[in-house]
Amino acid sequence: MNETIQLLLNHVSVRKFKDQKLTKEQIDLLLKSAQAASSASHEQAYSIIEVTDPEIRKQLVEPCGGQEWTTQGHYFVFCGDFYRHQKLAKKYDTDIQDSLDSIDTLVKGVVDATLAAQNFIIAAESMGLGICVIGGVRDGIETVDKLLQLPDHVYPVFGLIVGYPDERNDSKPRLPQNAIYHQNTYETNKEEALKEYDEIIRAYYKKRNKDRTWSKSTTEAFSKYPRLYMKKYLQRKGWAKK
Ligand SMILES: Cc1cc2nc3c(=O)[nH]c(=O)nc-3n(C[C@H](O)[C@H](O)[C@H](O)COP(=O)(O)O)c2cc1C
Repeated sequence: MNETIQLLLNHVSVRKFKDQKLTKEQIDLLLKSAQAASSASHEQAYSIIEVTDPEIRKQLVEPCGGQEWTTQGHYFVFCGDFYRHQKLAKKYDTDIQDSLDSIDTLVKGVVDATLAAQNFIIAAESMGLGICVIGGVRDGIETVDKLLQLPDHVYPVFGLIVGYPDERNDSKPRLPQNAIYHQNTYETNKEEALKEYDEIIRAYYKKRNKDRTWSKSTTEAFSKYPRLYMKKYLQRKGWAKK
């Protein structure tokens, strides 16, 4: 165990923040940390948009799931971004159309944005800040796109709220290691580990006054949000055409 691992193990999403702003130096360090992440072929295929305009933040709340904590702290939107690459291709008169159209490019943009975000998150937590990832931007994708004036080849993967925690739950237990760890080949028989986990998570949520198991709630959530409009949105914006 060391301090870094302890920090990772202490992670919990925060959904109530103090009315205290980060300094410019803190934001600069968070962005530097994000940029230190690995990137596929060093393409650095992401952008981070901080939404500082309170009016825009207000307009993002309802379409993105009505989550009131998204008006608190600072709000960053992590985007997969090949806008600059597409511009460079014109400059160097290079045909990158197949690459732009490829679904693999969407994966690269999402992975790059996510790795940068996770670095940002760890840096923030190391400063005593709290964070909450906001996948709700996918519920309001058209509104987000419009309000942030995103050009083609820029896709808002998720939002991230960062600030000083005003309330913190205990860290949430994860699946037993055996459920997610395989050696050499994929083992399909992990039911026992899931059963064991349901009891652990039921006890955890009891302390938060909720009666919930992981298997049922994750299945229900998965069925509830297919977001079938995403394909059309992404293709209109120049992603995943092939
Ligand atoms: C891609 C992604 C989207 C998420 N979207 C939301 C969200 O819209 N609202 C929210 O409150 N939490 C959101 N979360 C946070 C998860 O609910 C949280 O990470 C998960 O329940 C595990 O809890 P923990 O982070 O407290 O350990 C999201 C997390 C990820 C990775």
